[in-house]
Amino acid sequence: MNLLESVDRCKLPKHIAIIMDGNGRWAKEQGQDRVYGHYEGVISVREIVNACAEIGIQYLTLYAFSTENWKRPKEEVDALMELLVNTIRKEIEELKKNNVKLHIIGDFKSLPAICQQELNEACEMTKTNTGLNLILALSYSSRQEIVEAARNIAIKIQQGELKPEDINFQIFENNLYTSAFPDPELMIRTSGEYRISNYLLYQMAYTELYFTDVHWPAFRKDNLYEALLNYQQRERRFGKTSEQIQKNLNQHV
Ligand code: IPE
Ligand code: IPE
Ligand code: MG
Repeated sequence: MNLLESVDRCKLPKHIAIIMDGNGRWAKEQGQDRVYGHYEGVISVREIVNACAEIGIQYLTLYAFSTENWKRPKEEVDALMELLVNTIRKEIEELKKNNVKLHIIGDFKSLPAICQQELNEACEMTKTNTGLNLILALSYSSRQEIVEAARNIAIKIQQGELKPEDINFQIFENNLYTSAFPDPELMIRTSGEYRISNYLLYQMAYTELYFTDVHWPAFRKDNLYEALLNYQQRERRFGKTSEQIQKNLNQHV
């Protein structure tokens, strides 16, 4: 049986978040420069977006550029921004064909004007699509997102729209970039690093974490299916006991 056939379609996560890491190291291993790794990483993005759309994942968030990544050498940052614009231009028809709806989270205004324009157009052109929601985290920092949410809430209180005692999880979450999306059930990080790197810190309170040594440019559909199979073997307890979870499952069959 192939890997895809082994995946239980009834136990799919609604939302997968990925830290696409290892482009630079993968390129070095090929004797190429880091930017080559970013180019090849786009092929993996296409593969994984298609795989998620095919299998019926509803939300896929890809960490494409962190606020900390602005500290990289200017040539690399410029190449990444150019790649972003070219990729969106090239892939828009495919996104439309596959019924994918594009969203952006992060400090949008810090992106070069041309990127903002291209991304705005792509979001506009896919906004009525009803299949996979593809969320690109660009110039994204989870801490910044949380601090901004706190600031927005403070402004609403100052303007008399909200009282401090009204603040609850729902109000707080409504002020995050991700307010329209459910929390990810599965987070995949490629390239053998065991850290979160300022990604969806609030949203991942109960996310299952999956780490693989495969570098992002080598990550293919089967690697995704392996992650899904691993996820499906886990027992998500949310603080309860295993016995409680099993009892609940038995009541629902
Ligand atoms: C991920 O690959 C892509 C971005 C962060 C933009 P890296 O560029 O971090 O590759 P490594 O981790 O240095 O190998
Ligand atoms: C995280 O990867 C950000 C993205 C994949 C866009 P990094 O390569 O920037 O993370 P660190 O620096 O190794 O933690
Ligand atoms: Mg990295």
